[in-house]
Formats: sequence, C-alpha cells, structure tokens
Amino acid sequence: MRAVVLVGGEGTRLRPLTTTVPKPLLPIVGQAFLERQLSWLRSHGVDDVVLSLGYLPDAFQTHFPDAQCDGVRLHYATEPYPLGTAGAIRFAAASAGIDERFVVCNGDVLTTLDLSALLAFHVERAAEATIHLTRVDDPSAFGVVPTHDDGEVKAFVEKPPPGAAPTDWINAGTYVLEPSVLDDVPPDLTVSIERETFPRMLEEGRRLFAHGTDDYWLDIGTPDKYLQAHLDVLAGRVGFPPAPGAIEIDPGIWVVATPDVAAGAVLTPPVFLDADAVVGSGAHLSGASVGVGAVIEAGAHVENAVVADGARIGPDARVIDSIIGPGAVVEDSAVVLDHSIVGARARVDAGLALAGSRVEFSAGAS
Ligand code: GDD
Ligand code: MG
Repeated sequence: MRAVVLVGGEGTRLRPLTTTVPKPLLPIVGQAFLERQLSWLRSHGVDDVVLSLGYLPDAFQTHFPDAQCDGVRLHYATEPYPLGTAGAIRFAAASAGIDERFVVCNGDVLTTLDLSALLAFHVERAAEATIHLTRVDDPSAFGVVPTHDDGEVKAFVEKPPPGAAPTDWINAGTYVLEPSVLDDVPPDLTVSIERETFPRMLEEGRRLFAHGTDDYWLDIGTPDKYLQAHLDVLAGRVGFPPAPGAIEIDPGIWVVATPDVAAGAVLTPPVFLDADAVVGSGAHLSGASVGVGAVIEAGAHVENAVVADGARIGPDARVIDSIIGPGAVVEDSAVVLDHSIVGARARVDAGLALAGSRVEFSAGAS
C-alpha cells in the first residue's frame, strides 16, 4: 500500500521552533514526529510513502539520507510553490506514479487509528474517498463533517465560526482515496481538499464517506498540543516504550542511557531524560522531556515542558508549560511560562520573566 504524507506546511503556530526545523521533524519524546507516523503506517501495511514537501524540503532528505525509515521506502515530491492540500496530493501522486487506491495523511497527526479498519470500511462502502473522523471539544479549529448513519458525508465545513459547527466530529486528517478523486484537480493551481475537493464531490453526488473512531488522536501543531503529545506518549497512550531504547527506571521515569541525576534532584512522573542529559542538585522535573545533552542546573524547576537537545536551564530558573528549543539557554532565575517558545540557540537573560512569549534570538532586560 502507498501513502502520501503532507509535510509542506510552514508550521507557523509553532514558530520559532519551525523556523529551522519543519513541524513533522520536531521530536516528540526524543523521536521525530514523522518517524513515529511512518512506523504507524508501516504497522498497517504501508511500505511506500511520498513526502509532499514545500517548506524546508532539504531537512527531510538530510533526516532520511537513505530515503527509507523503518521499512518504508520514501519518495520526495517538492512543490514549486504551495499547491494547497489537494494540489499537493495531486502533484505528489503524479510525481510518484500512484495509480491505485492510496492513503493520505496530514503530517502532524499523532494517532493510534486502526488504518486497516479504515481501509476495510472504504472497501465495504465502495467509497471514492473515506475520511477518518475524531471527536473534539472545540470543532471550530478543524474541518467539521456531519454524516448519515452509514457514514455517507452530508457536508464538509472547514473551520466554521465558533458555535456554528453542526457536529463535534471532525476531519482527523487521514484519508483513503481512489485516484479518480484527483481527476478534477487542475495541475499547477492551488487547491484545498477540505475547502474545494470534498465539497465539490458532495455537490456532484460522488461516494464520499467518513468513519469516526475513538482511537487516540492529536494534531500536534500548536504549543499546548505539542506539549500534550509528550505527556500522552510518556503515559503510554501511543504505545510502549515511549521512545526507541527508552527504559523505565522508576514508575513513569524513562531514560535512554544511565542518567546523570544529582542526589537531591526530584523527578515527578512522567519524566524522560535522553542520552547525556544532566540534572543538578535540588532541581525539580515533572511532566518534563529533556533532550540529548541538555542540562537542568541546580534548583531549576521544569514542569510540563520540553527542553530540547543541548539546551540549558540555569540555576533556579523556572520553565513551566513551555518549550525550550535546541541549544537554547535560560539563564539563572529566569522564568518562562504559559506556552512560551524559546527558539533554537536563543537566550533568555538572567532574572527575566516571560509568559506566552516567542523568543527567536534573545530576550533580555535591555
Ligand atoms: N505539501 C503541502 N502543500 N502540504 C501542505 C500544504 C501545502 O500547500 N498546506 C498544508 N500542508 C500540510 C501541513 O504540513 C500539514 O501536515 C497538513 O497539510 C495540514 O495542514 P495544517 O496547517 O496543519 O492544517 P490544520 O491543522 O489547520 O487543518 C487540517 O487538519 C485538521 C486535523 O488536524 C485540515 O485538514 C482540517 O480539516 C483537519 O480537521
Ligand atoms: Mg494541523
């Protein structure tokens, strides 16, 4: 089975992390999100994937130098300019010669969906396209998809105004498509599958179905959801172990190698310490994912936070509900709160307090 994975978006809601690393390559508990998605696809029989690239395409080829991952062969289809979701699928399918039923995934959806069951549903209904649905509290940020009892789609409403959604079942970003879905997508034009192709299929009375499930599902594309993904993976909601090679040394405390944790440091589950992470005396970590070679100095407090590879949290600093990018530094006694993102190699000066901030280079008192 072949699949197209859409990874061409700019990931604007996760800037400045995505200034240097495309969203699908951001790590979730020490493993690139896309590697997790490719392993999930492989577990359902997908062995050939076209990555639909646009933004920072070279990063993908560098990340997968052998054009394969976990038994999945990779192809790269780089758009000359953003073609929209349907345009991107068409371009990718044409460039890789896809001419049979195939799977499409948004490149930012972490899920345990039984893809094999979705494929079986598609075949049973003799559908031309089948959309996976999930249920969310606030459907307004998604494509909202009311259906008939047998799963036939009644309407597709992309991002309705708050309160206007006809159902809380939303497009979960995994599709099974027959190649004919792409016949009407003109080459070289920007076309959205959500706003144009699916609604047009309904107007034309074509067989568009949707299948709702209660599998684990999360779009990792905003700071709070990116943090949530770490907690969910560490809690085992997406499978075990939470990262390749991770070992549970105490309940809910996962490490990749023997960690350098000083006596007097307090680790409250869940915590993940990647290789060569260092935790100083009196530091307190809770709901924390700490990257390769990152350093949490004495007395620092890290809670519901991601500290990426090579980052450093200075003595007595506090990082709560926030993401510290690779090689970034939070200096002594600084406070970083409330979904702040400190970008790669950026610096937060000693004593500074930030809430809900995005730091691309440095944040200081002057
Ligand atoms: N190649 C390419 N070209 N990829 C694109 C383009 C493009 O022009 N535009 C977006 N993508 C990719 C993004 O990289 C991402 O993986 C995926 O398409 C979805 O884009 P997002 O920007 O994350 O969309 P969204 O989350 O606001 O909404 C989409 O996902 C929701 C589920 O998470 C829609 O499909 C909604 O209907 C859906 O509910
Ligand atoms: Mg998204």
